[in-house]
Amino acid sequence: MTALLQVGNLPTEIISPLCKDFDTLTPNLYKDGSYRLRRYSKIIYDKHTKEIALLRGSQFVQSEEFNKFQGGVVRQYDDLSDELLQSKGFLTIVDTFAKKGELPDSATIEIHQIRVVAKDPTTPTVTTPEGIHQDGYDRIGMFTINLADAQGGDLCVYKANDKKTLITTIPSKMGAYCVMDDDKLWHYGTDLIADKQSGHWDLFVLTASLSS
Ligand SMILES: [Fe+2]
Repeated sequence: MTALLQVGNLPTEIISPLCKDFDTLTPNLYKDGSYRLRRYSKIIYDKHTKEIALLRGSQFVQSEEFNKFQGGVVRQYDDLSDELLQSKGFLTIVDTFAKKGELPDSATIEIHQIRVVAKDPTTPTVTTPEGIHQDGYDRIGMFTINLADAQGGDLCVYKANDKKTLITTIPSKMGAYCVMDDDKLWHYGTDLIADKQSGHWDLFVLTASLSS
């Protein structure tokens, strides 16, 4: 079984301008809404022209098969900001995902912009309450934008739903990413621990199906 797994780093000068957009994320009413702040958009990306077309107002729903924590719930989040959608850093992320993930020339991509908040150094934030999991797509990409005043949030990749099958751990730092075969590999993010009062981990999670 060969499964696609690509790990790399995007230049910090391209990624760091994206940090400020995460400061405008707000809590939401869903089960994880107080500590996983989020925006969500669905786009169509053309690899050749490098054009991003926003499918405004898309809803996010995951089956219970893949998300025991809050599967089956239709979730509506604000779209990514226009400023972000037009930025060079965001285009670099989408293009990296499309190329490394070997997506079709025109691909539908779902994008989660997430800030995981850690508030109390004595109480780690569980970044992945669903445990080691798959998300139900052909491809998933995780791109860390920033890890501020916190430790943890490492991305762990597994061959199976079993922690003994760990393939690699990717420490969360600005620009670090992985793109993988979500159908064959499994993933998990480690807990996040604030250094002092409060810290956060900012990341994008991109998903796509090859048939789209
Ligand atoms: Fe996931």
